[in-house]
Amino acid sequence: MRVTGTGHASMRIDTAAGSILTDPWVNPAYFASWFPFPDNSQLDWETLGQVDYLYVSHLHRDHFDAAHLKRFISKKATVLLPEYPTSELEDELRELGFTSFIRTKSEEVMELDGGLKIMIQALTSPTDGPIGDSSLWVEYDGIRLLNQNDARPTDLALFAELGHVHAHMLQFSGAIWYPMVYELPESAKRAFGKQKRERQYDRTWRYIDDLKASHVFPIAGPPCFLDDSLWQFNDIHGDEGNIFPDQHDFLREYAKVGGTNGVVLLPGSVSELTVDGGITTTHPVADLDEFFANKEQHLRDYQARQRPVIEAAKASWRHPEIDVLKEMKHRIEPLLEESIYLAKGVGGPVRFDLVGYDGESVESILVDFPGKQVRPYADEKVRYRFRTERALVEHLLHTGEVDWVNSLFLSCRFSAARIGQYNEFVYAFFKCLSEERLQYAEGWYDEHERAVDAEDITIGDWVVQRRCPHLKADLSRFGIVEGNQLTCQLHGWKFDLSSGRCLTSVGHQIRAHRAD
Ligand code: FES
Repeated sequence: MRVTGTGHASMRIDTAAGSILTDPWVNPAYFASWFPFPDNSQLDWETLGQVDYLYVSHLHRDHFDAAHLKRFISKKATVLLPEYPTSELEDELRELGFTSFIRTKSEEVMELDGGLKIMIQALTSPTDGPIGDSSLWVEYDGIRLLNQNDARPTDLALFAELGHVHAHMLQFSGAIWYPMVYELPESAKRAFGKQKRERQYDRTWRYIDDLKASHVFPIAGPPCFLDDSLWQFNDIHGDEGNIFPDQHDFLREYAKVGGTNGVVLLPGSVSELTVDGGITTTHPVADLDEFFANKEQHLRDYQARQRPVIEAAKASWRHPEIDVLKEMKHRIEPLLEESIYLAKGVGGPVRFDLVGYDGESVESILVDFPGKQVRPYADEKVRYRFRTERALVEHLLHTGEVDWVNSLFLSCRFSAARIGQYNEFVYAFFKCLSEERLQYAEGWYDEHERAVDAEDITIGDWVVQRRCPHLKADLSRFGIVEGNQLTCQLHGWKFDLSSGRCLTSVGHQIRAHRAD
């Protein structure tokens, strides 16, 4: 089995029974803020795109690049489709000209022509990806590979049971706007960033340990930021408060916990895997260490090449003819009216401060969740406040964007302030600005709330419910109790056991009492 690195979460897997291209991403995503690192635009995409199968793990724009798929990927390729609750991924791919689809069943092995076996695990909570995230398992001729990319299942037992895995590809770096966009003192941001970076690595080590694959490939990040206004998000000098460590940093940190089987895939690197666990990897550069030592120069050259692309994107965002308040009312109020769980979960008004073209004037619009209204801000207390350029929201309204997380928020082109804890419902709502998505998310929370998870376990001095109130991780594996506080290590959420209160997000009470 041969694996060719094609950048970020993308790779081409070649076997005698066919080839699979995963998540090809080249064009900037999220308002031209994220670019693949290292630059993969100069690969021979005409040739790479002639494949038998295409796998797009989910609809995040750093995995689903519509323009690139349209131009370079053979429409004869058969799409391996995860089993998602909505048909959006298939609809978007059909729109691009793909006609051949295999609709997989989540967690079921499927044998394709020539003995190539695949299994896709689809995760479907409203907090997974933009309504869904997935992993691809492949087996051919006794060699097994798991491309986990960004997916965060509670554990990897399902894959481990299918036999020893030779290559495990997974995300290790950040892919979020926290804590950089928060209006906090720099020192606090650094401290939160450091915690976040450590948590990302802890989670990565846990997954690696679950699978114990022969080789581990750090993929699906970090992105790089080439616009001058976002340049500071690049981790160039090993800043421990930066949430976007690169592949070289991964190797260094992995070595500290005893990891010796890490393999970096640059765009154009090729790994040949053998059934006895052997691997040969060649890179497009003579010296990997030197490549990463010269990261800043690589980014500066890349930036110079992409400057016209960024400028052209920026020029397309303004739509002065749009009355933002009126359009937001029109788009959002009917959804507020239908929303029960998400609106209750947000529980307060959310304010958008939109900065005009002059860089100074500000229009403040309130999405009033309890009042089910969109209206001008009237000097009241708000739960969340977002500040961004008016042009970005004009563009979202102009294109009818249904997912403001997969566009505005991931762009990091905003700042935020909040009172109290992180509130996942705010982001869940703004990724569901369509009837289909909103109904799905409401249904999911409804079921989730009703599901009574009766099993308890004992951790230290406490008896607690076995499943994490967040996304049901098994707390006998992921729960750590210190004093009265439980931390679930899957996403780092904390709970005060004496009151049952979740300290990380609104809602999500945990059932707990002292063992004695
Ligand atoms: S499942 Fe996410 S913190 Fe526990």
